[in-house]
Amino acid sequence: MRMIAKLAAGTALASLAAGHAIAQDNSVEVLHWWTAGGEAAALNVLKENLEAQGITWNDMPVAGGAGGNAMTALRARVTAGDSPTAVQMLGFDIRDWAELGVVGNLNDLAEEEGWEAVIPAALQDFSRYDGQWIAAPVNVHSTNWLWINGDAFQAYGGGEPQSLDELYAMLDAFEEQGITPLAHGGQAWQDTTMWENVVLAVGGIDFYRDAIIDANADALSSDTMREVFDHMTRLAGYFDPNFSGRDWNLASAMVIEGDAGAQQMGDWAKGEFLRADLTPGEDFMCMRFPGTQGNVLFNSDQFVMFEVGEGARDAQLAMASAVMDPAFQVAFNTVKGSVPARTDIDDTEFDACGKQGMAELAEAAANDTLAGSLAHGHAQPAAVQEAFFDVVTQHLNGQISTDEALERLPQAIAAAQ
Ligand code: BGC
Repeated sequence: MRMIAKLAAGTALASLAAGHAIAQDNSVEVLHWWTAGGEAAALNVLKENLEAQGITWNDMPVAGGAGGNAMTALRARVTAGDSPTAVQMLGFDIRDWAELGVVGNLNDLAEEEGWEAVIPAALQDFSRYDGQWIAAPVNVHSTNWLWINGDAFQAYGGGEPQSLDELYAMLDAFEEQGITPLAHGGQAWQDTTMWENVVLAVGGIDFYRDAIIDANADALSSDTMREVFDHMTRLAGYFDPNFSGRDWNLASAMVIEGDAGAQQMGDWAKGEFLRADLTPGEDFMCMRFPGTQGNVLFNSDQFVMFEVGEGARDAQLAMASAVMDPAFQVAFNTVKGSVPARTDIDDTEFDACGKQGMAELAEAAANDTLAGSLAHGHAQPAAVQEAFFDVVTQHLNGQISTDEALERLPQAIAAAQ
């Protein structure tokens, strides 16, 4: 009797201690910038997945393509000692936050689920810091795509443009059709997304690496770079007069509605086309930006897990596990326009653009023609990226000449390094 009483008292004490010290918080707060229609639809897949597990989703959306605004909002939260559970983040930003020592540790989960064997090395470079898993990659996006309205393309009647010259021929035809040839959103990150495509088209992958990944001053002021800026000026001649400040998804909408012929944008644009019930290869075309075939500029959205109290850990780990689940990666990425962040998923469920994206990603990794996107955080840390943004945008808006851009670019980059 005494023995049983003792045991019972012991159990009660233990659960009392657990109950008091660790209040379970079965919710996640997620900071992200997926506010466009296709993006929100994709995120909903994750939200519903967690809610089915009994985990409450507290949404913290911060609008603004490429995440600049989201990163500003995050700084305020962390500074106030109130980190969200998980944050959508790109490449070098992940490292910056890891360095501050405010992120969580996913090592046990990663080990248990064998992440190391299935996540591409280029992503693991960012998912791990000092060997510690801190983030779960949700996708791989690519920036060197061109999206074309199906009717406009058929009316043009030419083949898919393979070079910048062929691109201009197609854009001229769109002009004759009376539509805006090239839909563009004039925001620094969009300008630079187009610019990095042109750098790759004009100079090839070695030049891209030299100029952008290594930020070599000679490459930044070279004749090749002069050609790049000249092409940017020529491309801007195909924009409509209202391009300034336009959000990327509104530029996609111009192509969707047939008001514009084409848009240069990463493959998140496909999410918008799908959301409008359009079929790839018929209603719209996806193709590599002319002159960049065989190369892939990539970026990956990862959910960085921040340090949370012990009681919120289980929900956080459940979210990380859900993100890495193969079925989820298919369900999410077929809606988002990206491809899975795991190498062990086949392409059966993906549409023609997704199949092409998956095959080309694998080929580019094998052929060493894969490089990180500058505009989307996978080539340079934020300060250097901003310096590129400034020069590219000022040039595209005619505030500085090509000569000035060539002079300023190496200076601005050196100052930011
Ligand atoms: C992200 C995408 C997002 C796009 C537009 C990119 O940096 O990787 O997930 O859809 O920005 O906001």
